[in-house]
Amino acid sequence: MTNKYTYFVANWKMFGDLRTLNSLDKVIKFSKTNKKNKFRIIYCPPSTLIRPLSKRLKKTKIEVGAQNCHHSYDFGANTGQVNSRMLKSVGAKYVILGHSENRQLGEDDKLINLKIKSALKAGLKIIFCIGETLREKRNKKTNQVLAKQIKNGLSSINNKSNIVIAYEPVWSIGSGLIPKSEDLKKSISFIKSKFGKKSLKILYGGSVNGNNVDKLKIITGIDGFLVGGASQDSKKFIDIIKKTIN
Ligand code: PGA
Repeated sequence: MTNKYTYFVANWKMFGDLRTLNSLDKVIKFSKTNKKNKFRIIYCPPSTLIRPLSKRLKKTKIEVGAQNCHHSYDFGANTGQVNSRMLKSVGAKYVILGHSENRQLGEDDKLINLKIKSALKAGLKIIFCIGETLREKRNKKTNQVLAKQIKNGLSSINNKSNIVIAYEPVWSIGSGLIPKSEDLKKSISFIKSKFGKKSLKILYGGSVNGNNVDKLKIITGIDGFLVGGASQDSKKFIDIIKKTIN
């Protein structure tokens, strides 16, 4: 870990209702031990929970983010959609964009690029997900895929200071598998080389848990984790944080 803050982003995906928020009391209590700003916790619940969660976290240092947004900055006739301004207005500070579960539903780099631009305009910070599929990895295309996702996803965005990269190999998400340390090191340094800027934050995501985080945290250039499954259980999430920072 190289930076002052280590990021722990909880991606709740399509899980959770109002009652689920009670389980956060443990994390709120734990976050109060963060006297020296060693870590930064960001909860990304389903959009239905952003408002109640941000109210609940008001007096804490825990921040709230969303999991996706529509690409239009303007309000409009888009049934079932939520845009970046709406998310911002209910308390979101971040938004996860380019997640592979949404890429699999048809989101391409061009659409993700429009979403990023709209979210930046609304004043949100972006957690921009990139990563290769298993087939791409087997065909030794990882760097090529990452380069393309970065180039197209961030096309004509000059100021990248509000963008955090989340490297999530698609085959690692929800599978219990993590990359070999050597491979992960290579991917992280490849991503860094695309930016040529030291302050870029890079998170790793994909099956992070209390048993593998020791292996992951020592990889140079990783500034934190995007945690799916294990973030839904406060005890498991705290365990990941403790093992990382200690
Ligand atoms: P996982 O999900 O930790 O359950 O693998 C990570 C993610 O999809 O962001």
